[in-house]
Amino acid sequence: MPKIQKLYAREILDSRADPTLEVVSILDSGDYGIASVPSGTSTSSSEAFELRDNDPRRYLGRGVLAAISRVNQEIASAVLDKPFTSILDLDKWLIDLDGTPEKKKLGANAILGVSMATTKALAASLRQPLYKYIADVIGNKEPLFIPSPVFNMINGGKHGAGNLDFQEFHIISSRLHPFAESLETGVVIYQTIKRLLARRGAIHSVGYEGGFAPNLFTNLDALEILQEAIIETNHKPGIDIELGLDIAANSFFKDNRYIIKDRSSPMEANEFIDYLRDLNNQYHLRLLEDAISEADWKSWINLTAELGNITTIVGDDLLATNSKLVKKAVADKACNGILVKLNEVGTVSETLEVIHQANAAGWKVVASHRSGETNDTFIADFAVGIGADYAKFGAPARGERVAKYNRLLAIETELTHPPVP
Ligand code: PGA
Ligand code: ZN
Repeated sequence: MPKIQKLYAREILDSRADPTLEVVSILDSGDYGIASVPSGTSTSSSEAFELRDNDPRRYLGRGVLAAISRVNQEIASAVLDKPFTSILDLDKWLIDLDGTPEKKKLGANAILGVSMATTKALAASLRQPLYKYIADVIGNKEPLFIPSPVFNMINGGKHGAGNLDFQEFHIISSRLHPFAESLETGVVIYQTIKRLLARRGAIHSVGYEGGFAPNLFTNLDALEILQEAIIETNHKPGIDIELGLDIAANSFFKDNRYIIKDRSSPMEANEFIDYLRDLNNQYHLRLLEDAISEADWKSWINLTAELGNITTIVGDDLLATNSKLVKKAVADKACNGILVKLNEVGTVSETLEVIHQANAAGWKVVASHRSGETNDTFIADFAVGIGADYAKFGAPARGERVAKYNRLLAIETELTHPPVP
């Protein structure tokens, strides 16, 4: 049985210039894994606890030295030289060692770094690619495939320039194509959007996830640009290329009302659902994520009853990759799709458990990055291993986003041309 012989963490930077952890886990066989921890900007109130130093003398309080010392001391002394069979055992020790529901004692960022790095080390020790190890642990016996990419072309909300209310404007192929083809289509549409925005004098910059953060006014302006780019690249909007949205409604839900620039006055929940229905009629949205605030559970049920049979109503902030919330949402029919993010819950095993629940409910599964990312490609292997329907890794631009898409290209090559044994 493997044992961890050496475990340590160091402070590195993420794509937003915020510190995060990189963890190294070395097994007694000499096999090792190195993983770094992502971090969100538009976070759910139910996410596991991210331990930051809050010391204003370093990195404006965003340092993670305390989390690093948890890995190097408390966690290392509890797990070193203890034999275990799979990542499920190690994660259980980590959860017990912390002992709090939100991972407040050790920090979910410290715990997740150890969980991810050790998952990589275990895959290496079995001479397996990471995606295959993950497929074996979750019991995914289906033929492996590359999920459909969800490209985030325009960034608004907390990820953008502050002008657009909705956070993410996606393009998604309506059928599963070879990934290399979907990536090329995504890139051509991305470059076309850039040209269309330049023509209007509307390019501002790019946002946190590599999509454009343009000088547009309303959400509809952004959707129109995407439609135009789809047509200009000889695709049929709503037929071969569809749109998706992460509305991240938490950020504009105030006093029980939804406030967006597309409407002159705040909307009650039922009016906002009418608005979303019209939007879907007009744009045929394939994925509609966090269209309702996490604080407005009843409206999630209403929205799913209204639109759930024609589009996928995806819970992200609503569910926070938390099995209790998923159980409640399944029972209440509050959505029919889930965004899974490892750091919302804090271990690989608990994320797998949530995926089991989602699969059992017949939900669509979207494996997702965070706005704060590194060049770690763990999530690409993870998405393939779990058999996710979609991979949401941002725009096909910026190093930390393309690292993951490039890893999917490599996995596709391995799956379609397996190396001769
Ligand atoms: P976040 O954004 O990483 O800032 O939470 C991603 C998302 O909301 O899907
Ligand atoms: Zn989201």
